[in-house]
Amino acid sequence: MALANRMSMKSGLARTTVSRRCVVVRAALELKPPPYALDALEPHLSKSTLEFHWGKHHRAYVDNLNKQIAGTDLEGKTLEDIVLASWNGGSPTPAFNNAAQIWNHTFYWESLKPNGGGAPTGKLADAINASFGSYDEFKVIFRATQH
Ligand SMILES: [Fe+2]
Repeated sequence: MALANRMSMKSGLARTTVSRRCVVVRAALELKPPPYALDALEPHLSKSTLEFHWGKHHRAYVDNLNKQIAGTDLEGKTLEDIVLASWNGGSPTPAFNNAAQIWNHTFYWESLKPNGGGAPTGKLADAINASFGSYDEFKVIFRATQH
C-alpha cells in the first residue's frame, strides 16, 4: 500500500489515520449493553421495553453520534469529553443531543438491577428522613406529586 502524506481508512468500528511517522487509531463509540439480560427486569420493565429503548433508541444515538463526529475533533474522544465539548458553554452543538442521550441511557441502565429496590441506606436515607420524616412518608409525597 502506497502511503500518501496522510491517508485515512475506515473499516468496521475504527478509523485509522496513517501518516509518514505515526499511526493513530481512533475507536468509535460502541453501544454498551445493560449489565443484565434484557428480560431480567420483568415484570417491572418488559423485555420488549428494553429492546426498544436499548436496542433502538440507545443504538440510534450511538450510530448517529458516530456519523456526526466522524472526521471531526470529537472523534476518538470519550463520551464524557464529547458531552462537555458539545455543550459548548451553553450553546450546544448538534452532537450534544446524541452524546447526552447516550450518557442518559447508560446511566439509566446502570441504575437498575434485577430484584433491586428497597429502602435507601446511608446518607440518602438520612437526607430523606431529615426532609420527609421517614421513607414511607417520602413515598406517599413522591407518588402524590407524579403526573
Ligand atoms: Fe429511550
